[in-house]
Amino acid sequence: MNYSLFDEEDSAPWIEELFPGAILLHRYALPHVKTLMRCLDSIYQQSPLRQMKTPGGRSIAVHNTSCGEVGLISDVRGYRYTPLDPQTKAKWPPMPEKFRELATDAAKLSGYSNFNPDSCLINRYLPETKLSLHQDKDEADFTQPIVSVSLGMPAVFVFGGLQRNDKLSRVTLEHGDVLVWGGDARLLFHGVLSVKRQPHPLIGTQRINLTFRRAM
Ligand code: SIN
Ligand code: FE2
Repeated sequence: MNYSLFDEEDSAPWIEELFPGAILLHRYALPHVKTLMRCLDSIYQQSPLRQMKTPGGRSIAVHNTSCGEVGLISDVRGYRYTPLDPQTKAKWPPMPEKFRELATDAAKLSGYSNFNPDSCLINRYLPETKLSLHQDKDEADFTQPIVSVSLGMPAVFVFGGLQRNDKLSRVTLEHGDVLVWGGDARLLFHGVLSVKRQPHPLIGTQRINLTFRRAM
């Protein structure tokens, strides 16, 4: 399935079904980038980007923070969602209405009309940063999809199967792309290959990914 939402513009968003349950909304977030970046500035001031530790004690290459009722953290005790930012000891910044709207609209367009995110993980990738293959399974309800918004430098996203060593396929995520995965795709292994240095005119030398989830 591959069709355009608006056929009058070259840069208009278009929908591509990558796998059953995994939908890529090309350029869908483009009209909202400035607002998203403004919201991010305010989130960073309340809960700064930081490098968390893996349960094994190593620093995670990606810098992250969260907004919403709960945020995803990692430390020696493992990965989990918490209502407080462990660094500031305060609540995570609330999820901006604009974030929620974008995520639920994208989910609806992809066939998930009841998406109700309570958490948004904000990941920042600098050049040479990658994210190893993993499954998102710290959430309570796997009938809720994941909505991922990519900003800035492009990255190659890899999708596998339900087993770590299943065959991988690659898809490039560009500035403004929104990837929605749920249903049969919800527990697929995925990761991000080392991000190349390709400075973006608006976002600079970084890739930002917003991952919306229903955690609790
Ligand atoms: C993630 O899997 O948590 C992030 C994916 C991405 O950065 O595109
Ligand atoms: Fe993930």
